Amino acid sequence: MNVLVTGGAGYIGSHTVLSLLENNCNVVVFDNLFNSSIESIKRVESLTGKSVTFIEGDIRNKHQLSNVFSSHNIDTVIHFAALKAVGESAQIPLEYYQNNVHGSVCLLEAMAEHKVNNFIFSSSATVYGEENEVPYVETMKLGTPSSPYGATKVMVERIMADTAASNPHFRGVSLRYFNPIGAHESGKIGESPKGIPNNLLPYVAQVMVGKREKLSIFGSDYPTKDGTCERDYLHVMDLAEGHVAAMKWLNDNQDFAGVESFNLGTGNGVSVFEIVTAFEQAVDKKIPYEVSPRRAGDLPAFWANATKANDALNWQANRSLDQMMVDTWRWQSANPNGYDED
Ligand code: NAD
Ligand code: WQD
Repeated sequence: MNVLVTGGAGYIGSHTVLSLLENNCNVVVFDNLFNSSIESIKRVESLTGKSVTFIEGDIRNKHQLSNVFSSHNIDTVIHFAALKAVGESAQIPLEYYQNNVHGSVCLLEAMAEHKVNNFIFSSSATVYGEENEVPYVETMKLGTPSSPYGATKVMVERIMADTAASNPHFRGVSLRYFNPIGAHESGKIGESPKGIPNNLLPYVAQVMVGKREKLSIFGSDYPTKDGTCERDYLHVMDLAEGHVAAMKWLNDNQDFAGVESFNLGTGNGVSVFEIVTAFEQAVDKKIPYEVSPRRAGDLPAFWANATKANDALNWQANRSLDQMMVDTWRWQSANPNGYDED
């Protein structure tokens, strides 16, 4: 299989590229390195002993995309490339719509021109919005996300549905990720956020390595088991393997045309306090923290019903919370500055 991975140098992309190589795929990575480093790809190559074709380019540039499809015989596209900072998306919404929505349209157009029909999209639990009750299940209607970022995911899912309705050969899979954390067990690749991390685990890891003073816990008065928000955290390598499972599913179901969506999560809600305790146990050190006001837009609790992916894709998020913490720490302690300055 020849797979084009947009955004393949990023956090989830690099782990997925590793899984794809381990499953004997040929991989072309297309990334503008806006939020990543080529070092991730070099490390994936060194871990697997296999090589990746890397192309520096932007999904909003159709000419560049067209060249990729002309010069590589691509079977399947896995589309990670996007901007992903929820808070920032409210400050600069047009950049988010341009990058995430217009960029996806350019990619789908280039695919159509080159008759490439297999498309796996990085969607998010955020598409369930605020209306749906937990656990989220794929049969629910798409909701209204609280951020422009979330809206871009809903829009691309709709664009996929319309593409499928107009092209009887289009085969789309939308993978709705819950909260990916952790790192490859080697500690060689992991999440390397630029600037101050927005997400919980990178922030905790940077506190533990001494780069940040203390964690702010955003609210402890939610109607949850201990007052802090609950999320469905899954190991990034389980998530990576979910993409390989989705690709196999497309390959095994040659009669399929249309769009299917799958939740990728564990099915369990874990609170912020539980994350703090689990990390402290993994590292054997206390995390300095304070409880601060709620963060705008945070939902109290959500987790996946992951039955559909378990049954149809034969996929499960198997790695434990403890392993997520141990692997995060192995990566962060060996690479305190991520891919920078090593
Ligand atoms: P990331 O920022 O680490 O990776 C995204 C990659 O896309 C980066 O390498 C970036 O340089 C690249 N990119 C961005 N815009 C581009 C463009 N216009 N052209 C080419 N490359 C471009 O993010 P990630 O955490 O690996 O997320 C990957 C995907 O998964 C994104 O679509 C994100 O929205 C989605 N997602 C992430 C999470 C999460 O918690 N990390 C959860 C749900 C969904
Ligand atoms: C987890 C919990 C915070 C940081 C976001 C997007 C979602 C998906 C993943 C892409 C929350 C709390 C966090 C901190 C804290 N991305 N927290 N102190 O908000 O569930 O999801 O990223 O699709 O769409 O919305 O993840 O890691 O930011 O937060 O207390 O410094 O940790 O309030 O309860 P979130 P997160």
